[in-house]
Amino acid sequence: MPNCIGKKDEGVRRRRVMEISRSHLRDIPAILDLQRRSPPAAQWQEGDYARLLADPNALLLVARYQGLDGKSGLAGFAAWQQVGNEAELGNLAVDPAYRRQGIGRLLLTQSHRELARRGVTHAYLEVRTSNQAAISLYYALGYERLGVRKGYYSRPPEDALILSARLANAV
Ligand SMILES: CC(C)(COP(=O)(O)OP(=O)(O)OC[C@H]1O[C@@H](n2cnc3c(N)ncnc32)[C@H](O)[C@@H]1OP(=O)(O)O)[C@@H](O)C(=O)NCCC(=O)NCCS
Repeated sequence: MPNCIGKKDEGVRRRRVMEISRSHLRDIPAILDLQRRSPPAAQWQEGDYARLLADPNALLLVARYQGLDGKSGLAGFAAWQQVGNEAELGNLAVDPAYRRQGIGRLLLTQSHRELARRGVTHAYLEVRTSNQAAISLYYALGYERLGVRKGYYSRPPEDALILSARLANAV
């Protein structure tokens, strides 16, 4: 179901249609470009996304926009891996030009819905302890802190918060 999201542009409020849908191989270049411009996102290779797309236990959702000017493209993506009744968020990013418009929230709520439909009961993720934007988003959606992994990240080195949500309790 498409969602209308407003974006202020040069003082004029335009409407864009934003749709969350499954990703395709042809989306990979845009996903790589988006992750490159979103440093806290995991910097994966083309083959990582191709493998996800071929894996029935993975889920790769994208937010597609369609402007009134006819232009379309990707505004964000979320990548998941399912193991039994658990799923881990492997990567998430929203284009810097589209942040704070509800797209990250939409990507995660639609992911939760699809994962629950597949039998997933618990979602997990790791996040840099300094990544306040992502942590706020996850807490807003019902994630709770499970613990800390010391020195989990490199370049720059940092601890990870481990968060988890019961999908029945998640937004
Ligand atoms: C984290 C990220 C995906 C959020 O995407 P987004 O589309 O901007 O998030 P939303 O607009 O859906 O925000 C939903 C809620 O999350 C919280 N939030 C999001 N960005 C925030 C920020 N910069 N500061 C504080 N809270 C924030 C707020 O509670 C927000 O609700 P509100 O706008 O009504 O206050 C985006 O900032 C991003 O791509 N960051 C870089 C990549 C990254 O960090 N990925 C996660 C790796 S674990």
